[in-house]
Amino acid sequence: MTSEFKLAPSILSADFSNLQSALSQCDAGGAHWIHVDVMDNQFVPNLTIGPPVVKSLRPKTNKFIDVHMMVIEPEKLVEPFAKAGADLITFHIEATDNPLSVIDLIKSTGSQVGISIKPSTPLSEIEPFYDQVDLVLVMSVEPGFGGQGYIKVSTGRIQEIKQKLNEQCLQDRVLIEVDGGIKLHNAKEVLDAGADVLVAGSAVFGTDDPAETIKEFYKLTQ
Ligand code: DX5
Ligand code: ZN
Repeated sequence: MTSEFKLAPSILSADFSNLQSALSQCDAGGAHWIHVDVMDNQFVPNLTIGPPVVKSLRPKTNKFIDVHMMVIEPEKLVEPFAKAGADLITFHIEATDNPLSVIDLIKSTGSQVGISIKPSTPLSEIEPFYDQVDLVLVMSVEPGFGGQGYIKVSTGRIQEIKQKLNEQCLQDRVLIEVDGGIKLHNAKEVLDAGADVLVAGSAVFGTDDPAETIKEFYKLTQ
């Protein structure tokens, strides 16, 4: 059953020369979240934006700012992003030997905590932390770029995470966010598998009317 979900347009696919326009499109479309992809050209072969951009976006939007850190040494960027106004800070399990210390650091800032996993990483790597976080971010593409194709086996991984959350009675407290290759044609499959939040970058900002596209996503569950 697909109930109400949250769409998190990724500004990675927006026009970086005019992010105000991307925010306006998200407002007009009624998106719940703004997904900010942070890349350091170390953890992934790409370099994007950091805390100064979140700081400039913060006063311009009331939307929930969802920061996805695809970086090594994530602990070094937690406080700067929290100070900049991030509502949720997600790190990658593959980027640290001490996930609990990163989780505790994020919690100490008052931001919500997300843990993310790359497509080829076994789910067993993050299972011990489900009861410590607010969100699990399932990568359905290899992180680093927008516009890639959805990796089909991700659907089974989402189902498996949902089942584990249900077994631990965490399903009402811990959200599942799915990130990468989400389009209007596969969104329902992903939601039916158990996703609560969908990230959509190129599917939204790669269209002539991002606001209308956002509305189309929400119509999928009406
Ligand atoms: C990839 C990013 C994703 C990406 C989504 O590393 O984490 O958020 O921007 O873009 P699409 O929706 O185009 O796959
Ligand atoms: Zn992302």
